[in-house]
Amino acid sequence: MQASLSLDPSARVGVIDRRLFGSFVEHMGRCVYTGIFEPGHPAADDLGLRKDVLELTRELGVTLVRYPGGNFVSGSRWEDSVGPVSDRPTRLDLAWRSIEPNTFGLHEFMTWTARAGTEAMLAVNLGTRGIEAAAALVEYANHPGGSALSDLRRSHGAMDPYHIKLWCLGNEMDGPWQIGHKTADEYGRLAAESARAMRRVDPSIELVACGSSHRTMPTFGSWEATVLDHTYDDIDYLSLHSYYEELAGDRASFLGSAVGMGAFIDEVVATADHVKARKRSAKTIRLSFDEWNVWYQARFPGEAALDWEHAPRLIEDEYSVVDAVVVGSLLMTLIDHADRVAIACQAQLANVIAPIRSEPGGPSWRQSTFHPFAHTARLAAGHALVADPVSPTLPTEAHGDVPCVAAAATYDDDTGALALFLVNRSLDSSVTLDVDLRSMPGLQVGEHLLLCDDDPEATNTAARPDRVIPGAGGGRVIDGRLTLLLPAVSWSALRLCAAQP
Ligand code: AHR
Repeated sequence: MQASLSLDPSARVGVIDRRLFGSFVEHMGRCVYTGIFEPGHPAADDLGLRKDVLELTRELGVTLVRYPGGNFVSGSRWEDSVGPVSDRPTRLDLAWRSIEPNTFGLHEFMTWTARAGTEAMLAVNLGTRGIEAAAALVEYANHPGGSALSDLRRSHGAMDPYHIKLWCLGNEMDGPWQIGHKTADEYGRLAAESARAMRRVDPSIELVACGSSHRTMPTFGSWEATVLDHTYDDIDYLSLHSYYEELAGDRASFLGSAVGMGAFIDEVVATADHVKARKRSAKTIRLSFDEWNVWYQARFPGEAALDWEHAPRLIEDEYSVVDAVVVGSLLMTLIDHADRVAIACQAQLANVIAPIRSEPGGPSWRQSTFHPFAHTARLAAGHALVADPVSPTLPTEAHGDVPCVAAAATYDDDTGALALFLVNRSLDSSVTLDVDLRSMPGLQVGEHLLLCDDDPEATNTAARPDRVIPGAGGGRVIDGRLTLLLPAVSWSALRLCAAQP
């Protein structure tokens, strides 16, 4: 099969915000305990943070990490997570029917983000709590001193304020599973009032309101409109969450997941702009896709099946080559929507549906999905370009006919480098892609990575941690045209730059 793509550095979608390459650490399963934090592990540092997992986090290129939940946040008390560890209470975590010892809390997380070289994004509890607790947490974290809560932080060892910029106003408040689930009106009012109080404490913060937990939620669309009616002037971002999986062997639909993600983003943009028009507002709301990933939810028995364990093995999905191709394509869709999507967090970072796996007392390793994330975060820079290939299509049950070849591209004015990301979704046919680069004379392929495998089910394990890794592709530019052979079910990343004289 043949496909073609023409790229022009002046056809720009928007600036790539580095916060697109975010992740998520929730107090859930083994993400925190025996994931990023394991005192006594041979690789633990002075605080019990796993240095091997920190190293992998830096290699992954994560720019932002959302914390502490997720569903966890909606039943949590931030006060339990600060102060001397020996004084912190052990609680029942009602979201995941787990035991929460609070030996890892806000200060440990902030130290971890500093060591990982990432920004923190904090969620406040708008499930069981509200305005007062949210404003108090901003005071504790961000106020310099001279008030009861900022002085409490100082007495806990953090003399300087943390200056946490990004705050989520609750989590998935549209979901009936959420502790303190609300109607859109109830949540919209609470979110607006909490936002105002939090900003009185620190006017420099940026706020994310909860959008829908999934595009298939019965309230999707009306939820966004109502929440924005209440919060439009008080927030900066609206969230989207979505997880994808292969259902009933329908691989074609699974490979087309990014088409569904793109439609979801477009629909939320349309809804936000409709509210903007009705309000005659000059402000444009940007989006925070702060939970996305492949998650085999069909295999999860649900939280009711859990039994008050500490750090149980929860949703530790093992990812295949196909999953990695889908993750690569989801990242491409985020880049393609860089004009409106400013923040995105792959959920989660370690062990729980994660690119990084670790064993208690044992090794850590990269899942297949680690690779497309790490290379996209490393290579995507500057502006996203319009990248619409002319491609044969793949019929799918869930999304209709989807293009076999999808592309995303970024162009960096500072370095003159072009990054190109491609997938071939065809289940059995390779595609020859002709890329017209004549508007960027002098570019040559500096790097070409290709992820595909004779066994699309192959995974990485503790015993074979490098079974699935990208190999070198073989593209060359001749007379301004790059010709690539994209194998079936593959993901590619290229960096093109000026040829060395
Ligand atoms: O990431 C796992 C869970 O998925 C989060 O706690 C919740 O927000 C979502 O439903």
